[in-house]
Amino acid sequence: MSADLSYVQPTADSPWGTYLSQVDRVVPYLGELARWAETLKRPKRALIVDVPIEMDDGSIAHFEGFRVQHSLSRGPGKGGVRFHPDVTLEEVMALSAWMTVKTAAVNLPYGGAKGGIRVDPKRLSQKELEKVTRRYTSEIGIIIGPQQDIPAPDVNTNAQVMAWMMDTYSMNVGGTATGVVTGKPLHLGGSLGRVKATGRGVFVTGREAARRLGLNLRGARIAVQGFGNVGSVAAELFAEAGAKIVAVQDHTGTVVNPNGLDLKALVPLSRTEGVVGFRGGDVVANESFWDVPCDILIPAALEGQLSAERAKRTQAKLVLEGANGPTGPAADDILADRGILVVPDVICNAGGVTVSYFEWVQDFSSFFWDEDEINQRLDRIMMNALNHIWDTADRHRITLRTATFAVACERILMARQERGLYP
Ligand SMILES: NC(=O)c1ccc[n+]([C@@H]2O[C@H](COP(=O)([O-])OP(=O)(O)OC[C@H]3O[C@@H](n4cnc5c(N)ncnc54)[C@H](O)[C@@H]3O)[C@@H](O)[C@H]2O)c1
Repeated sequence: MSADLSYVQPTADSPWGTYLSQVDRVVPYLGELARWAETLKRPKRALIVDVPIEMDDGSIAHFEGFRVQHSLSRGPGKGGVRFHPDVTLEEVMALSAWMTVKTAAVNLPYGGAKGGIRVDPKRLSQKELEKVTRRYTSEIGIIIGPQQDIPAPDVNTNAQVMAWMMDTYSMNVGGTATGVVTGKPLHLGGSLGRVKATGRGVFVTGREAARRLGLNLRGARIAVQGFGNVGSVAAELFAEAGAKIVAVQDHTGTVVNPNGLDLKALVPLSRTEGVVGFRGGDVVANESFWDVPCDILIPAALEGQLSAERAKRTQAKLVLEGANGPTGPAADDILADRGILVVPDVICNAGGVTVSYFEWVQDFSSFFWDEDEINQRLDRIMMNALNHIWDTADRHRITLRTATFAVACERILMARQERGLYP
């Protein structure tokens, strides 16, 4: 049988291919643990499900759903659920693998998982969205659970979707199981600080990277691609620290203002209509976003956005990967050659899963913390993780991405080795 037909063989320019080449780059730094490296290149378990629902007009529609548990060596699976028309098994495999690396990089007691449905939720009514969510949850119910695998929000999913998932799972097991998902509404066992946690983590790691680069945040010019949960929150925190948000792009288009966009007006508009209707800046062609003069670039939309060609053009000194997998290996090399520092996704956007962990712990103990305590703990965990990664990068003279993989993969493969192979 041809090796090309294996589902672990990446298609061209795919996120899974990006992930595999990131693993190849870390292997020389794993010492004897390299013997286990193949483990990182194969998801432990992948479930494909059919999600049929009756639409409002009486027709029957089928959607493709996925849940991939890349690694459970260090604990239960953890990772978001994405609703997007471009979702594929391969994309979910890559996102689940990055979760394995991310949870290990910040030393949370989790493995890595991810889920998704190939659907455009903007074309569904609220009732149809609820049906899709509930049927999907029921189908993947055989592999998720508070001790098995804990989903959370990702692109196009939110606290309401998590509430439906929690309710569906609870109905099926016959008791309220708040710990089965994180990112829930507050009164259903959600955690303070969770909604803003990923954007806050981008800010915390970006603030530390800027300090080390000698880049003053006051007056720094920032361009943000993707203005949803991650991008808009990060932008607000940088603006509070005195930076200017000079360009923003979402799925509706791109707005720029070299004097800084007024976020108090832009953020609410972005949630209803998108950024392109904003009057406080100029609308420009989407491709021009990558040429905007800026000091910090924050890709916070989808994978593969910072292509090699765009990496040659960006004027930023610092790239903060709010999105998962925005930069491919070729673009990574170009940025490194140009002396542009990249804080990689697997540490930069780990704030969300860190507060998800706090939510899960609070649910188990039924004891809830205040927001200050959550933000302080988040800050401390992110700073400690980043400093450890930075030291590793300095010691081996490698990029922050390979250093994050080195720190994380050592923890993952150590667990793998200590547990041993069953049977
Ligand atoms: N939500 C989390 O807690 C979390 C945690 C870690 C990583 N992430 C990652 O961050 C990224 C964004 O997630 P989110 O939760 O903010 O999603 P979201 O749905 O809240 O926002 C996504 C944003 O990207 C924009 N977008 C979509 N397609 C685009 C395109 N082709 N060009 C420009 N903009 C486009 C949308 O308009 C929207 O503004 C994803 O890569 C996700 O995996 C999210």
